[in-house]
Amino acid sequence: MNYVTLPDTDLKVSKACLGCMGFGDAQKGMHKWTLDYESTKEIIKSALEAGINFFDTAMGYQGGTSEEYVGRAIKELTQRNQVVIATKYVPRSPAQIEAGISAKQHIFTCLENSLKRLDMDYIDLYYLHMWDNDTPIEETMEALNECVVSGKVRYIAVSNCFAWQLAQANEIAKHNGWAPFVAVQGHYNLIFREEEREMVNYCNQNGVSMVPYSALAAGRLARKVGESSNRLEKDAFAKGKYDASAEMDNQIIERVYELSLKKNVSMTAISLAWLMTKVASPVVGATKPHHLAGIVEAMSVTFTEEEFQYLEELYQPHKLVGVMANQKGSR
Ligand SMILES: NC(=O)c1ccc[n+]([C@@H]2O[C@H](COP(=O)([O-])OP(=O)(O)OC[C@H]3O[C@@H](n4cnc5c(N)ncnc54)[C@H](OP(=O)(O)O)[C@@H]3O)[C@@H](O)[C@H]2O)c1
Repeated sequence: MNYVTLPDTDLKVSKACLGCMGFGDAQKGMHKWTLDYESTKEIIKSALEAGINFFDTAMGYQGGTSEEYVGRAIKELTQRNQVVIATKYVPRSPAQIEAGISAKQHIFTCLENSLKRLDMDYIDLYYLHMWDNDTPIEETMEALNECVVSGKVRYIAVSNCFAWQLAQANEIAKHNGWAPFVAVQGHYNLIFREEEREMVNYCNQNGVSMVPYSALAAGRLARKVGESSNRLEKDAFAKGKYDASAEMDNQIIERVYELSLKKNVSMTAISLAWLMTKVASPVVGATKPHHLAGIVEAMSVTFTEEEFQYLEELYQPHKLVGVMANQKGSR
């Protein structure tokens, strides 16, 4: 496994982060394909054995049960200081705003609840899961800074935002001497590259780490066009993100397959190796222990200029999808 230290932090993380959205009680959340505790533990064990030390969960995953499973497995399998744990809070709901709960109160409550579910006394990387349109960014940054000052959070990060929003937030943090966002988790993979419009340049120039999600396009970049899986059939959220562009995307996926044959490696390894050249540490989901092998294999794949060109040249701009499509200011 390769490792990278995220700039301006002492977080030394594996070059791939294990996405934990697929872990948790399938009766309790938005996904019906998630793994129970024993299967979760098996995958986390394989990840640790492969050298992965970076785990990404969220309060929103399966009603908090992903956090519970991750915390329990980490406790049973390793020591807290051997891993880097990222989790996320979601902004206040309209009902919570209506009830007069302040943004600060909300963040502190979410943090305490995540710590309880994880059964940990600190979080390494605490994310704002999606941009909070109802809270002035000053208020959010001040509250998150207090989380850092309290010692319950080591660093803060943001997911699903535009580069200008991240730039503004970090300028405000800098002006006030508050903790800045050190990482951003956007949607980025070979068939969804809208982060290349502005985010990649912003991050490269400002030392913000990119830790993108759905590195394999929810599995599409890991298997031949037409091959299916339990998740591919059941994951309505991912269908909503990828079905509309499938015709265009499939041509790129075919090329991933061709290169995998040429190099005698898995499609997972090709797709992840490409993304690893662009970002600090992609967040990758796994639903079977053997999936970890693809991540490890990606560490040793390199490309010639022609191969890069071959993988990249067919891409055309996509409409924003998922959370970003509903953002104020999205197109
Ligand atoms: N911040 C956000 O808003 C946000 C949104 C989405 C995800 N995330 C994070 O990103 C993580 C990953 O996202 P994701 O699960 O959507 O997408 P992903 O990493 O793009 O895809 C994961 C899927 O790829 C397949 N796979 C993985 N390794 C494989 C291998 N070696 N061989 C064959 N298939 C393989 C599996 O599919 P099958 O199960 O079909 O076999 C797995 O479920 C999540 O767990 C979560 O932590 C964050």
